[in-house]
Amino acid sequence: MAREFTRVGVVGLGTMGAGIVEVFARNGVDVTAVEISDTALERGRATLTGSTDRAVAKGKLAEAERDALMARVDFRVGLDALHDVDLVIEAVPEHLDLKQRIFAELDRVCKPETILATNTSSLSVTEISVATTRPNQVIGIHFFNPAPVMKLVEVVRTVVTSADVVADVEALCERLGKVDVTISDRAGFIANALLFGYLNHAVGMFEARYATREDIDAAMKLGCGLPMGPLALMDLIGLDTAYEILDTMYRRGGRDRRHAPAPLLKQMVTAGLLGRKSGRGFYTYERPGSPKVVPDEFTPLAADAALADGTRAIAKVGVVGSGTMATGIIEVFAKAGYEVVSVTRGAEKSAKVCEAVKTSLNKGVVRGKLSETDRDDALGRITWSATLEHLADVDLVVEAVIEELSVKKALFASLDEICKPGVVLATTTSSLPVIDVAMATQRPADVVGLHFFNPAPIMPLVEIVQTIRTSAETSATARAVCAKLGKTGVVCGDRSGFIVNALLFPYLNDAVKMLEASYSTADDIDYAMKLGCGYPMGPFELLDVVGLDVSLAIQRELYLELREPGFAPAPLLEHLVTAGYLGRKSGRGFRDHTRR
Ligand SMILES: NC(=O)c1ccc[n+]([C@@H]2O[C@H](COP(=O)([O-])OP(=O)(O)OC[C@H]3O[C@@H](n4cnc5c(N)ncnc54)[C@H](O)[C@@H]3O)[C@@H](O)[C@H]2O)c1
Repeated sequence: MAREFTRVGVVGLGTMGAGIVEVFARNGVDVTAVEISDTALERGRATLTGSTDRAVAKGKLAEAERDALMARVDFRVGLDALHDVDLVIEAVPEHLDLKQRIFAELDRVCKPETILATNTSSLSVTEISVATTRPNQVIGIHFFNPAPVMKLVEVVRTVVTSADVVADVEALCERLGKVDVTISDRAGFIANALLFGYLNHAVGMFEARYATREDIDAAMKLGCGLPMGPLALMDLIGLDTAYEILDTMYRRGGRDRRHAPAPLLKQMVTAGLLGRKSGRGFYTYERPGSPKVVPDEFTPLAADAALADGTRAIAKVGVVGSGTMATGIIEVFAKAGYEVVSVTRGAEKSAKVCEAVKTSLNKGVVRGKLSETDRDDALGRITWSATLEHLADVDLVVEAVIEELSVKKALFASLDEICKPGVVLATTTSSLPVIDVAMATQRPADVVGLHFFNPAPIMPLVEIVQTIRTSAETSATARAVCAKLGKTGVVCGDRSGFIVNALLFPYLNDAVKMLEASYSTADDIDYAMKLGCGYPMGPFELLDVVGLDVSLAIQRELYLELREPGFAPAPLLEHLVTAGYLGRKSGRGFRDHTRR
């Protein structure tokens, strides 16, 4: 007979505990909610009230439902209140000794049949379980933040957790409307093992002043479609919790340097900057606990004010190349009102690009996004040429030719001879050092990277890559151009992968390593990232779309430049590429696409 779970206990009503109480009470389960002191209890109650009130205000919960929900919760101080519950979920700070003490106490207080669960993110459930006399009834139930919203629950079974306990907890997750993945006890489980290396890397970028907090966050939101940027997410998680998770993962997970907490994190935690819960972390919030970011001394000036001076006037733009990116970029500039000179290697190629641009603009008309007049005006602004000399009088050149350094360098040397003084020369390279291209000219101060994303007419992000020789005027001009194109330009240094690829691909590579280690399946890993972290695609779905060969090449570049052992490409990725399994484009990658 499966267990009933009519009353559950939640220990610790912080960021996670309060949300977990809400999940149970919303689903008709009575909850005994326990804190360490009256003050903490009141804070927990206020969190729950705030969250349910917001749900009522948004029309997601009726007032009567909210009242019934609150009535199901019995708020208490001290673990003794848990003597009659069927299940306890512990959500106290991420310290092994604290959790072990609490589990020993729960073992004493609770009924013999009560299941004891921990919401730990990174500690060993097995080590926590041995503090009790019933390790076979101890399990990990790892909710995601915010618990009422995120669909995923990681169910962590140890080597001694009883099969019936696992089955009953899985059934409970279903009753709560959650999707569970059941896994064994490994540091970080699925989602955090893949997430925290990325988050720590983003903190490192910020700490090294590689890019601003706003630009790092915008890059990952707009470039990858993530619901939040990494630094905003750190603030939501809580920097103290994030520090503990990283520290444990470093120690338990093979001392991967990427999990050694960035020094800045420790400093911020010591200074009491814990993220949203304390009102200040990477960002400043209206008040402790508030999700609303308010301006502080690091907030960039309003875009217009920042761009008012020091930019060059750009009216006429040359685009060199005839591939997907060049085609998209021509369209983007022409639609934004720039005069465009497209230069390809021959009339035939020009005709093809012209046709592609027309088709794309026509699609815009059919979808009602563009008027016929605007389409005709945009087309009228483009001239088609096969001669670089036609770029003599443009104000900006955007190079989007093949990703080969020798080709790009030769092109920039020619542009240097042909173009007028004061022109801004931009490369769309996604993996080559911009400085190499810049040094092929006599005017490296005028050279910048403009890394558009594919498809350029749709993707809202452009990475503006400044080399150590790029002038402030050039990069301000690049920012002004991006703004006029309706794109968000994020400024970063000239390092392999810029912001997005440097943060994205190691995470994808880690997912491959996790699969290779048989810790979980591709389906469960994809679920975990989509339902636990709100990613639009799981890592294996994304790898198959991007192409395994492309992903491997980017990962190799990152590894070669940064020499970070953790960035070494996963052998499985190498093997799949060697076998010709390149993803959707070849019909097979991590999944077989021919049968769908
Ligand atoms: N923050 C996240 O995004 C997240 C996500 C999933 C899991 N987790 C895990 O959840 C657990 C809690 O993390 P959090 O971020 O909610 O921490 P938190 O600091 O926000 O809250 C912890 C709460 O536990 C209370 N507490 C401390 N000692 C207690 C005791 N002896 N008895 C009762 N209550 C006690 C504290 O007063 C505090 O309210 C950790 O194991 C963490 O790894 C966190």
